[in-house]
Amino acid sequence: MTAKKRTVALGLSLICMALIVGLFFLLRNLGTESPAFFSATESPVAVWEKPILNRPISVHDAGYIGADACRECHQDNFASWHDSYHRTMTQVATSAAAVPSFKDVVLDFANSSVGKVTLRQEGEKLWADFEEHDSLGRSKIVRQPIVMMTGSHHAQGYWYPSGEGRDLKRFPFMYRIDQQRWITDRANFLMKPAEHALSHTTGVWNHLCDRCHTTRPQPRLEEDGHYDTHVAEFGIACESCHGPGAAHAESVAKGDPTIGMVNPLALSPRRSAEICGQCHAEMAFRTKSDYFNWVHNGDYYQPGESLEDHLKIKDVDAHAFWQDGMVRISGREFNGLLKSPCFAHNDPSRQMTCLSCHVMHQPVDDPRSRKEWANDQLKLVMDSNRPGLHNNEACIQCHTEYTDEEKLTAHTHHAPTSTGSICYNCHMPNSTWGLMKAMRSHTISSPNVKESLPPIGRPNACNLCHLDKTLLWTAEKLHQQYDQPIPPLDEEQRNTATGLLWGLKGDAAQRALIAWNLGWPPAKEAAGTSWMIPLLAQLLVDPYDAVRSRSFLTLRAILGSDAPDYDFLAPESDREAVRAEVLHNWDTQADSRKSRGMPELFLKPDGQLDQEKFDRLLRWRDDREVFLSE
Ligand code: HEC
Ligand code: HEC
Ligand code: HEC
Ligand code: HEC
Ligand code: HEC
Ligand code: HEC
Ligand code: HEC
Ligand code: HEC
Repeated sequence: MTAKKRTVALGLSLICMALIVGLFFLLRNLGTESPAFFSATESPVAVWEKPILNRPISVHDAGYIGADACRECHQDNFASWHDSYHRTMTQVATSAAAVPSFKDVVLDFANSSVGKVTLRQEGEKLWADFEEHDSLGRSKIVRQPIVMMTGSHHAQGYWYPSGEGRDLKRFPFMYRIDQQRWITDRANFLMKPAEHALSHTTGVWNHLCDRCHTTRPQPRLEEDGHYDTHVAEFGIACESCHGPGAAHAESVAKGDPTIGMVNPLALSPRRSAEICGQCHAEMAFRTKSDYFNWVHNGDYYQPGESLEDHLKIKDVDAHAFWQDGMVRISGREFNGLLKSPCFAHNDPSRQMTCLSCHVMHQPVDDPRSRKEWANDQLKLVMDSNRPGLHNNEACIQCHTEYTDEEKLTAHTHHAPTSTGSICYNCHMPNSTWGLMKAMRSHTISSPNVKESLPPIGRPNACNLCHLDKTLLWTAEKLHQQYDQPIPPLDEEQRNTATGLLWGLKGDAAQRALIAWNLGWPPAKEAAGTSWMIPLLAQLLVDPYDAVRSRSFLTLRAILGSDAPDYDFLAPESDREAVRAEVLHNWDTQADSRKSRGMPELFLKPDGQLDQEKFDRLLRWRDDREVFLSE
């Protein structure tokens, strides 16, 4: 061998060694990933063998060991976590983990940002065939593997590799689990279609979504502008809430239990809530360099630390908050908590935390099924969705005076068995929006009419049940019963039922909240439903996808088997036809089901709709653009 050749050979074998050593470390640290996915020979790679090379991977480092390592010693905690939606928040895409079938499903929507897409499934593998057109109009199929999934409860979204680094691209359709149907990804948010491009955004998973949807996310932005993203674990696992576990597991295994884990129950209320707040909050990096440290080096908050050493908690921003600073979108419960009087005082022995009401591991004596508990992860007696459960434990654990029935009714002015005597319903009304539904506000507040007037415009708790009543009615009751002053009210606020006022004239956020609350059983009981039909019919042709979708669900719940066929993503003319049909049926139905002579509900003495008033209010609809991305 010549000297030159020898150098080359030596160089090559050094490179080989480096590769082998590198591979060894990579495999050793590889978390839940199956090494079998690594094909050393690149040659006849089907579209599907590549993905692990260019999607984020799970790597255990910096003391993170993954949930499987906790299982043996903490079987119960593991089991309840395993059945929680936290675990399945982010998953590697497989046909087993996907909620819908991908077998030859064609997605072709009128208002989609892309053309026709056909989903395919073969064994474990999922992919999407995009039909694209070149400048001459010739069509071709571009095949993309689906490699990652977000969500498993209300909705599921999908991701495919951009082909560069480990950057992911957003698949432009989502599956709505509650509605059992595909939708465009834009329809999942309260936003005007066509005005924001969400689809195909590259890299957003790597530098944004993973922060709240995985355990120990490290974007690892590289100099070439692409990501080499690692996470300790896909999904939200033990170490997101308890901190890295290597030292604990090692020491316990050696019979020395002195190295513990962060136990949220043992922390101060604030430190405990911050663990949840790392993800359930509206916040920003404090400085650019904090952001760079995270995006390049993965430096981030860990449980038990002060969250505000890492992040700035936001409290004003037109997008996430109503004008008076109350949270208006889902997933920001920590901001809500900080503003609640039950937390904001300074006595830690009486401070509310998330764990005042929620429990992250289902207790063994809890009679609910795992699935029931997993939905909202509430303590048994705090679960306001539990049928027949009618108690105020969540609040009277601290506000003990209301255990007394007389004191309760003196305070609520409703019978003790009425839904109007449940604390949650007046102090945590369903006035936040997200995941295509209304949710309980997590700021404890008391109902008043001022909060419902411009410029705030947040529907108050009384009228979210008494949707058939005017603001004047509510102001007068609040004055009589709670001694609140009556604010100045204009003609419409005095004479129009709040359901119609917000549902016809309100902005898109108000219309969406009304569409949901019209279907809330306590509201249907308090307000009756017949008058709601013309309003809901109108909302079937609303410009916002999310408003139409929710309005139909409410309408269907009211009409039952009389409900028409309707698709909120169908072309406009189809939706218009359904609106006309619903209205016609309502108009011609048995008179006994209609109220009469109720001007605030636009019902004439003969029970007919006062179309003129209805249309006048609609003409004044507040069409300012609303974009609530949660
Ligand atoms: C080899 C067995 C073993 C393993 C593995 C193990 N633990 Fe533990 N863990 C224990 C024991 C024993 C205790 C109780 C010791 C004590 O009282 O501090 C404990 C205590 C805890 C506590 C309560 C701490 C406190 O101070 O109240 C938490 C939380 C916890 N473990 C979480 C985890 C997590 C998360 C993992 C995996 C990352 C894990 N453990 C792995 C055995 C183990
Ligand atoms: C600041 C933290 C945070 C960020 C960043 C974030 N999310 Fe979320 N996300 C949440 C929280 C909290 C929830 C749960 C809200 C609830 O249940 O009310 C959630 C829920 C979801 C859900 C519903 C899951 C289900 O099973 O129903 C989807 C889908 C989702 N997020 C997608 C995304 C995507 C895509 C991104 C990135 C573009 C993203 N999120 C960024 C915190 C975040
Ligand atoms: C979303 C946050 C979260 C996740 C994820 C989580 N835990 Fe917990 N864990 C808590 C909280 C909060 C408590 C306090 C009691 C409760 O709410 O159930 C707790 C309590 C515990 C305890 C008991 C401490 C005690 O004093 O009784 C152990 C042990 C534990 N968790 C282990 C685990 C293990 C193991 C996993 C993963 C398999 C896990 N946890 C996942 C939040 C979490
Ligand atoms: C690492 C981020 C993260 C942490 C930490 C976290 N969560 Fe979550 N949480 C999420 C996301 C994302 C979702 C949406 C999951 C879903 O619904 O699929 C969620 C969902 C929930 C849900 C709704 C479950 C459902 O789908 O019905 C509750 C309740 C909840 N979290 C409470 C808490 C509490 C309390 C804590 C603190 C002890 C906590 N979370 C810690 C990110 C986190
Ligand atoms: C006073 C009791 C109480 C406190 C404190 C509380 N919650 Fe809740 N939370 C509830 C109730 C009740 C629901 C269920 C609402 C419903 O669906 O009716 C809920 C629902 C949720 C949901 C699911 C929303 C959805 O419908 O998808 C999340 C997420 C959540 N809470 C997170 C938190 C976090 C994080 C904290 C602390 C910052 C917290 N909560 C504090 C009572 C509470
Ligand atoms: C962990 C204890 C705790 C829980 C749980 C709790 N609170 Fe409170 N709450 C307090 C404390 C303490 C105050 C402050 C009272 C004071 O200033 O002395 C307070 C204040 C309030 C106030 C404002 C009082 C005022 O004078 O302005 C209202 C309203 C309120 N709570 C309602 C509720 C409701 C409704 C619930 C249940 C959804 C609830 N609280 C749950 C402890 C709690
Ligand atoms: C029908 C609606 C309604 C229900 C139900 C209700 N409240 Fe209230 N609550 C109000 C109103 C309205 C105020 C505000 C009074 C004012 O303007 O000062 C208020 C004020 C409060 C306050 C602060 C002032 C005070 O009177 O002490 C507390 C604390 C409170 N409520 C706790 C509770 C608790 C705990 C429950 C459940 C046991 C409950 N409320 C149920 C309507 C309600
Ligand atoms: C969770 C739903 C709900 C909320 C919130 C609620 N109510 Fe009621 N309300 C009812 C129901 C249902 C009735 C019918 C009788 C009953 O069940 O008590 C009623 C009856 C009434 C009545 C007597 C009947 C009538 O039509 O004149 C008045 C007055 C009243 N509510 C005022 C209020 C005020 C003021 C508030 C806010 C402080 C409020 N309600 C909040 C459900 C609610």
